[in-house]
Amino acid sequence: MSASRVIAIDGPSASGKGTLAKRLAAHFGLPHLDTGLLYRAVGWSAERARRPPAEIAAALQASDLDNPELRTDQAGQAGSKVAAIPEVRANLLNFQKKFASQASGAVLDGRDIGTVICPDAAIKLFVTASPEARAERRYRELRERGADTIKPRVLAEMAERDRRDSERAAAPSKAAPDAYLLDTSDMDADAAFAAALAFITRKGFRSSGP
Ligand code: DC
Repeated sequence: MSASRVIAIDGPSASGKGTLAKRLAAHFGLPHLDTGLLYRAVGWSAERARRPPAEIAAALQASDLDNPELRTDQAGQAGSKVAAIPEVRANLLNFQKKFASQASGAVLDGRDIGTVICPDAAIKLFVTASPEARAERRYRELRERGADTIKPRVLAEMAERDRRDSERAAAPSKAAPDAYLLDTSDMDADAAFAAALAFITRKGFRSSGP
């Protein structure tokens, strides 16, 4: 596995990790996997099909991740629930490890990338922001998409999901001891990208190719 070319990004929802992962992938010319989509896809299907979540996880295909409904908060909650099942996590391991082992290197974002999926990643970032800043971002995003919600509800649902993700026994969401902590509470996407890039450059990670 080309661990020296992997950028692992973890953190809670609306911390800015997804946007950051996409920008870093584009900057370094690396493929990107949003691993939250895997759990969302399993949770979404489990609520519709009468099949055990672990079985759905074992049969997951890359094309299953294209479903636009996976972007909703309901899919996020469903994903968080199945993510606590050890067999689901085990059955999604190969998919993620295979993606991370591409010769080009890769950027993966999620909750356990630096701790479980790619413990040897060259770069590990843990992106956080205050619950208020995250809820405010999420609220604005939902309103822009036309969702009918109120800020206290967004904050409460986020707290519930954070608790489930960080208190579960199987691969709880936490920073790897060697991760660079990036608090984006007072940063916009450009500032977060600049801070991450400065750290990555200090670590000697460069774009590959000509
Ligand atoms: O990052 P996200 O909101 O799309 O993730 C959806 C849920 O999936 C999240 O609440 C926890 C779970 N998840 C996980 O347990 N491990 C990952 N690597 C990514 C997501």
